[in-house]
This record gives sequence, structure tokens and C-alpha cells, in this order.
Amino acid sequence: MNVITDLQQWREIRKSLKGSVGFVPTMGNLHEGHTSLCARARKENDIVIASIFVNPTQFNQAADFEQYQRTLGADCALLKKIGIDYVFSPSPNAIYPDSYEVQVSETRLSQELEGEFRPGHFTGMLTVVLKLLNLTQPHRAYFGEKDFQQLMLVKKMIEALFLPVEIIACETVRAKNGTALSSRNTRLNTLQLEKAALLSELLVSDCSDDAVKKQLEQQGFKVEYVATKWGRRLAAVWLDKVRLIDNVPMTERNIKNVASS
Ligand code: PAJ
Repeated sequence: MNVITDLQQWREIRKSLKGSVGFVPTMGNLHEGHTSLCARARKENDIVIASIFVNPTQFNQAADFEQYQRTLGADCALLKKIGIDYVFSPSPNAIYPDSYEVQVSETRLSQELEGEFRPGHFTGMLTVVLKLLNLTQPHRAYFGEKDFQQLMLVKKMIEALFLPVEIIACETVRAKNGTALSSRNTRLNTLQLEKAALLSELLVSDCSDDAVKKQLEQQGFKVEYVATKWGRRLAAVWLDKVRLIDNVPMTERNIKNVASS
């Protein structure tokens, strides 16, 4: 497995690659959610590239960006085990030679739910995803349903800008207690980790969105939103200083109940 940080070197390598290319963009601090995307890409492509780039433009707070765990050594060990061919890990300066003066924004979907609580987040995300897709030129790119709104926005950008790449959506990987795996979970203590399980439990329950919100608040979560949209129930909450998001597909049972509540 080759780890490439230099942009010019990467562009030379990309020119030499033959066969189908799968790409998994990440911000590192990898867990089984990320590796499930990589394993799927490994099965479906001749060459697999994973990127590790903590994207400064999609963080709302500088402190959150600075505190984001950088674990390149451990990440590369995981990726090597899966048989990834290339890890592309450029610097912010290399990715933003324009000082982020050129941006990709979406004006409707990006304004709701996550967009309402994280202004600018999706513009930063779409901009970096477009840059990474242009640099890696994959046939297929893999994204998790864990970040459902992100996935929808990436698909929308691909269609709107006629990008020649297939977006593959991958199911959310969960811990045994149902909690969606997330890099942010490492910032929760044992008690909070147990409590976090309530989020996914309530999302799949037959309670209304309002009832879910109320129960979460009673248990000490600070709730940003619980909403049913796009055939899913989605939520964002804070447990102390850690922000968690999750979403689940609606089952027949809770669609019926939400509609009648
Ligand atoms: P990051 O949070 O590192 O996630 C990288 C990819 O892993 C995303 O597609 C995300 O949806 C997926 N993922 C995370 N947790 C998952 C889980 N439990 N199950 C399945 N997939 C999971 O998302 C980003 O980085 C960034 O916004 C990025 C797309 C890299 C652009 O900077």
C-alpha cells in the first residue's frame, strides 16, 4: 500500500492507473464504519484509493477541527489489512491553493436539518468532495448512509455537474447496542456510551418525532432535531460536549404511527 501526500506525485500515479477505480473519502480516525466502505470498494474495483483529509472548511468551530483525532499510522494499518492500494493524504494548503475562494454550494437541501445547525458545513463538504473526485477520478465512490443528508447532497452534485462517477451508498455500521459507529464516540465515557444507545433505540421505535425528542431530553440529551424525511427518521443530539447524528429507514410500523400522530 502506498501513502501519498504530495499532489504532483499523486497526479502522476493516477495517470498510470489502469482498470476500474473505487474511491473512499474519509477524514481518518477510522473505525468499522469506514472499513466497511473500503471492503466493499475492494470487492468491486481493480484499484482502491482511500483519502484521509481532515477538511478544515466543513468544521463550524476551529476548536472542533483542531481536536479532531489524527491517527494516520493506525488508519494506514487498518487500510493495509483490507488491501487498499493507495492512501491519498494531502495537506490543506495543497487542497486549497485558492484559499477556499472557489466553493460549491447547494441552495435548498443544504439549508435544512444539518444545514440549519451547521451553517457552511455542506458547502465545505461538497467543495472538498468535488476536489477529491477530480484528483482521484474514480469510477465508483463510496459514501455511508450514516451521513444521509451528505449522501443525498453528493448524489445531487454528481447529477447537477454531470460528473462521471457512480455513487455507492453503504449501510450504517452499528455497535452491538445499536449506536452508529462514529469517530466522535471515542470522546464519550462508558456511561455516555451506554446512554447513546437510546438514540438509535428511539429512532426505530413507533413513537412520534415529538415523543422521541421529549424522551431524549428527559434523558439529558440536548436535541437539535428529530425529523422524518426522505423515507428516514433523522436526528442530531448533543451528549455533553459531543454531537451525535443518526438516521434509520422508516419501517412500515413507524411510518403508520408517525403519520397518525
Ligand atoms: P468521515 O466522517 O470520516 O466519514 C467518511 C465516510 O464514512 C462517510 O461516507 C461516512 O458516511 C462513512 N461512515 C462514517 N461512519 C459510518 C458508519 N457507522 N457506517 C457506515 N458508514 C460510515 O464524511 C466525511 O468523513 C467527510 O464529510 C468527507 C466525505 C470525507 C468529506 O470531507
